[in-house]
Amino acid sequence: MSLNPKLVDWNGQRVWLIGASSGIGEATARRLMQRGARVALTSRNRDALTALADGNALVAAADVTDRASLQAAFDDVCASFGGIDVAIVNAGTHRPVRAWELDAESAEDLVQVNLVGAINATAMLAPYFAQRGGGRIAITASVAGYGGLPTGLVYGATKAALINFAETLYLDLAPKGVAVHLINPGFVKTPLTDLNAFKMPALIEAGEAAREILAGIEAGAFEIHFPKRFTRVLKALNLLPYHAYFPLVHRITGL
Ligand SMILES: NC(=O)c1ccc[n+]([C@@H]2O[C@H](COP(=O)([O-])OP(=O)(O)OC[C@H]3O[C@@H](n4cnc5c(N)ncnc54)[C@H](OP(=O)(O)O)[C@@H]3O)[C@@H](O)[C@H]2O)c1
Repeated sequence: MSLNPKLVDWNGQRVWLIGASSGIGEATARRLMQRGARVALTSRNRDALTALADGNALVAAADVTDRASLQAAFDDVCASFGGIDVAIVNAGTHRPVRAWELDAESAEDLVQVNLVGAINATAMLAPYFAQRGGGRIAITASVAGYGGLPTGLVYGATKAALINFAETLYLDLAPKGVAVHLINPGFVKTPLTDLNAFKMPALIEAGEAAREILAGIEAGAFEIHFPKRFTRVLKALNLLPYHAYFPLVHRITGL
């Protein structure tokens, strides 16, 4: 049973993609353009967005931590497209860190981008869609938000918060006819995961992630998690009591 209405055809859908310049966002943008969506691309790197758009998408550069620049991008997309049907809030960053390396300043930067940035975008989108009684918001969190994992000290906390945030958004917005999707990728090969020094299990390419994201939205899924061979194992692991979970995580990760 799908928790959101299905999306039958991307053709002509007005999609605002935030965090579009590389990795999962870039692959998703390419796929959306192939499927005939009208795509607006947002992130900080205007040159990368312009090259990606190649004349076929709107470029609205902004920093998600700067509410004024994000508001200008939102206004630009609404004015240029006459509205937004689907918003994908995907911007994020990651710095692997162990407890003994914790630095408050870089932790704060990560919280600002991953959590506050997503809240900044949603604070524009949720009232807009609720008032319209339609539309879709998809938020990229991570399976790192399911439970604590070594090297994900701050990153995992931001993603756990986003999972809770998306659940609560769903409870509020679904009755108003607004679809909410929670995207929880496993390991995807992108500039972000290139920072990981360990061998990433079930690593997939960004193109496969994009295919999963579009298919999940089309199906009306609330949680879009992939690859299933990895995410299902993590889901099972997180059902365990802590006295079983902690030693298993040490054993599996070697950390
Ligand atoms: N790769 C994985 O294995 C994986 C797994 C689970 C979840 N995720 C999540 O998936 C999302 C995309 O990650 P990715 O792996 O594709 O990494 P990526 O290639 O580094 O892409 C991150 C995107 O976010 C944008 N961004 C970063 N800071 C921003 C800011 N302050 N304002 C606006 N845009 C900003 C970047 O663009 P600019 O630099 O141009 O601003 C870029 O387009 C992230 O939320 C990440 O946490 C990734």
